[in-house]
Formats: sequence, structure tokens, C-alpha cells
Amino acid sequence: MTISSADQVLKVGVIGLGFAGTTHLDSYQKVPNVEVVALAGKEVPRLHELGTTRGVPNLYEDWEDLVARDDLDVVSIGTPNFLHAPIAVAALDSGKHVLCEKPLATTGDEAAMMVQAAQKANRVLEIAFNHRRRGDVQLLHQYVESGALGRIYHAKSSWLRRKGIPGIGSWFTNKAAAGGGPLIDLGAHVLDIALFLMGEPRVLSASAATYNELGTKGVGGSAYGGVKTGAGSAYEVEDLASAFLRLEGGGTLILEASWAGYSKAVEDVEVELMGTDGGAQIFSRNYNADSTLTLFGDVEGQPAITVPNLPPSGRHAQVIAEFVEIVRGGNWSAHSGVYGLHRTRVLDACYASALQGREVAVEPDLPADA
Ligand SMILES: NC(=O)c1ccc[n+]([C@@H]2O[C@H](COP(=O)([O-])OP(=O)(O)OC[C@H]3O[C@@H](n4cnc5c(N)ncnc54)[C@H](O)[C@@H]3O)[C@@H](O)[C@H]2O)c1
Repeated sequence: MTISSADQVLKVGVIGLGFAGTTHLDSYQKVPNVEVVALAGKEVPRLHELGTTRGVPNLYEDWEDLVARDDLDVVSIGTPNFLHAPIAVAALDSGKHVLCEKPLATTGDEAAMMVQAAQKANRVLEIAFNHRRRGDVQLLHQYVESGALGRIYHAKSSWLRRKGIPGIGSWFTNKAAAGGGPLIDLGAHVLDIALFLMGEPRVLSASAATYNELGTKGVGGSAYGGVKTGAGSAYEVEDLASAFLRLEGGGTLILEASWAGYSKAVEDVEVELMGTDGGAQIFSRNYNADSTLTLFGDVEGQPAITVPNLPPSGRHAQVIAEFVEIVRGGNWSAHSGVYGLHRTRVLDACYASALQGREVAVEPDLPADA
């Protein structure tokens, strides 16, 4: 389990048969010298269908049986959020590298345990933040890095759905299984995009509110795909969250996420950056990836707007290709998931702030005695 050469076959086990697990499986199969040798999930017909159509020889209903294999280099996690930490810790403790779906965990403390397990085992812990591999985000990141926007002092980042609760009554709407609603589900992505674009400032505090006005009434559900285990749960999470975040260096970020709400939104991802020398906006409706980036500047003192051509979007296939490269690269200690942990600490602070009705400091990523 010390794969470093591109000639050696990397053996992968994938856990989860829904959108995430299937996308992981299909993405690994596109990478040369990578074999998915084991697959786990509770839906037995789907397990066998994927095993047959994708040629995966070893099939399990319980994740523990997959992680117990001693021939795996990598475990890829596409399960409900509450299982991310126990699966990742067990896999890392037994020397496997881990790619975990977002959010890293349901709480910052669970995420810290995962990072500590990766650091102790000297293995990779990576998070599937596929939306930052969008072409608009990648081009804007390069543009920001070039210094064209100057110092970014304010940003807004949101993912808003008019009607898109993913499976009312499934694990998604169960507080213990999911950790929260759209904030931890969609907000995790747009928080990641904003912090990535802003150059990874530390978030110092959050002042947030969450609402649950439609979900409990059974309004706002959608038929989003995926297996959605855990049926029978009550609607226990928010359907809208709004947060004001203070960043180190004096910057601020407004973060919003909704699964449902009476608004102009459809399925809208929007990111705005305001810098001392320029600004930018990404707006994507229904996952559109064409002409979604607009740049704002001055030309000869006159406001100027540019809509650049965009490179193709990478998504999960790029996440997984990069993850395999990191595993093969050998510099594992630089990839122990700390940035994912910070995002989880920020989401914790948002939920705590909403509960307490006041601004809450973001906790240190790792405990002081770690
Ligand atoms: N990055 C993205 O764009 C993206 C998109 C969708 C979901 N996700 C994330 O992926 C994860 C899964 O979401 P989904 O929509 O695929 O969910 P899903 O409910 O469709 O699938 C979950 C899978 O986990 C399996 N599972 C549950 N308990 C298990 C156990 N004890 N042993 C083995 N397998 C078990 C289920 O059988 C099921 O196959 C979540 O963390 C979610 O946030 C990410």
C-alpha cells in the first residue's frame, strides 16, 4: 500500500451506490492503471447491476467488510454524511488513502478525527469538491492569482433552489445522518469555491440564521436522482440558511444556501468577488457552464464588462484524476484534508450562531493538544 509509480495498479474500493458512489466508480474507471476491485452499498439489486456492468468483482452490503480487505490502496466514500468519519478513520487506520464526498463530516470534531487519522497514518485524505473544477471557477482563480482584481475585500457565494429538497424523509433531511440541510449540502460547495477563489483566508466568525418554513410542511421536494437511503425520517433540518462571515485580513463573505423557497431562484449558483482593482461574478442556472463568468473593471476610467470564453469543466473526473496523482506522488502529508476540516468548522459556527442568535467564533481546526 505504498503506490508511487504510475505503472503499478492502484486498487480502489468504492462505498455507496447513489449519485456519488456511481460517479466515483465511473471516474476511477477512466484513469489508467486504476482498478475498482470492491464496491459496497445496501441496495442489493443495484450493487449487482453495478458489479456486472462495471466489472467489479467483490461486492459487499456493509462498508466494514470492504474496508477490512487488505489489498486496497484507496477507499472512496459516497455514503450519507454521518458515515464519512467512521469509514475514513477505519480506512486510514488500516493504511488506505481516502477520497471522501463533501461535506467532510457532519461536525468539525468528526472532521478533526479524520484529519488526525490521516496525519498519524501518513495517508491522503481528499474531499470531492467537484464544483471548484468548473471552467468558470478555474479561469477566475487564475485571473485572481494574476492580481487583476487587487485585494478582494468582499464576496457573496450562494446556491439557491426554488424547489429542490433532495428526498424529503431520506437521510438528507435527518439531522443526525446529514448534519444539516442545504447549508452543509450545497453551502459546503459554494463556501469551498469562495475560499478557494479568495486565496484561503481563515474564517474568523459567523453570524447566521437558518429557517425551516417549507420542508416541515412537505413543500419543496424534488425528484433528484440517487438511492437516498434512510427513508422514514422526519424533516429535521433547515431549508434556507444565510450567513455573514468575517475573514482574517478584514474581508467578509456572505454565504447563502436553500433547498426550497419562494424566490426568483431555480437552481442557481452565484459567486461575486469585489476587489480593489476589479470584480467578478459567476452565475450558473441549472448547471449551465457557458458564458457564466463576467469580469468588471475600468478601461480609461470607464466601467468595462468582459465575458470570457471558458475552459471545459472538470468535475468529479478531475477530482479523481488529481487524487490519484497525489496518491502516486508520495507527498501525502501535504494532503491530510485540513482545508476540508476548516470548511466544516465554519459550517459548525454557522449552525451554532443560528441556534444562539449571535455571532460565533470559528473554532481552531485541530484541538490545541493535537
Ligand atoms: N459532490 C457532489 O456533487 C455530490 C452530489 C451528490 C451527493 N454528494 C455527497 O455524496 C454522499 C452520498 O450522497 P448520494 O446522493 O449519493 O446518497 P444516496 O443516498 O443516493 O447513496 C448513499 C449510498 O450509501 C450507501 N450506504 C448507506 N449505509 C451504508 C453502509 N452501512 N454500508 C455500505 N453502504 C452504505 C447506501 O446503500 C447508498 O448506496 C453525501 O455525502 C453527499 O453529500 C456529493
